[in-house]
Amino acid sequence: MTIIVTGGAGFIGSNFVFHMLKTYPDYRIVCLDKLTYAGNLSTLAPVMDNPNFRFVKLDICDREGVYKLFEEEKPDIVVNFAAESHVDRSIENPEIFLQTNILGTQVLMDACRKYGITRYHQVSTDEVYGDLPLDRPDLFFTEETPIHTSSPYSSSKAGADLLVMAYYRTYGLPVTISRCSNNYGPYHFPEKLIPLMIANTLADKPLPVYYCL
Ligand SMILES: NC(=O)c1ccc[n+]([C@@H]2O[C@H](COP(=O)([O-])OP(=O)(O)OC[C@H]3O[C@@H](n4cnc5c(N)ncnc54)[C@H](O)[C@@H]3O)[C@@H](O)[C@H]2O)c1
Repeated sequence: MTIIVTGGAGFIGSNFVFHMLKTYPDYRIVCLDKLTYAGNLSTLAPVMDNPNFRFVKLDICDREGVYKLFEEEKPDIVVNFAAESHVDRSIENPEIFLQTNILGTQVLMDACRKYGITRYHQVSTDEVYGDLPLDRPDLFFTEETPIHTSSPYSSSKAGADLLVMAYYRTYGLPVTISRCSNNYGPYHFPEKLIPLMIANTLADKPLPVYYCL
């Protein structure tokens, strides 16, 4: 079994790489990552010498490079964690979010169609559902909740989800999508809410609070 994990030098992707190599020692895990500001190759240092692990520095938007990698590795499964994922940055500069999150997803799925896989998994976010009112703790999101995005980040993730569904319906690509809530834990990038709050608290700095009008 060979799995291509994109964005594996980031926060959740690296934890997934560690989990898979530990839980399924026979699987081959190929990590594809562009190493943007959010990617940290040193995070993967503990597994770099594992013979069942390979790291490839590559942009998921690089169609030629992605096809070459698929040809070499012939993956069974692709798990796409690679994304621009910081809401504030998406408000300042949406373009890279549309490129990576939507067009990059398209390149990966085209490669899956061309070379054949058993499953393409898209890591999405609950942010595609928008916000719940603070005074209605009885409400929650389900798979049937309508998409109601509120930032270029969540819109780009929702756009990618729709494209993934289109590849399933149009081409029969075997796909799954997960829309998790906020994660926190080891290797979390310091600009994200929980590490930022902890770091600011420790440094006696103000704690930024976000709200929607
Ligand atoms: N962190 C959360 O709480 C959370 C919650 C819900 C969903 N998600 C989703 O989970 C996924 C991973 O999130 P994260 O917090 O680990 O993100 P992260 O920013 O820590 O990591 C993203 C990784 O993707 C890589 N990357 C970015 N653009 C790339 C490109 N064009 N080609 C190849 N690699 C590229 C980066 O170098 C980095 O290593 C994202 O798709 C995100 O939308 C995250």
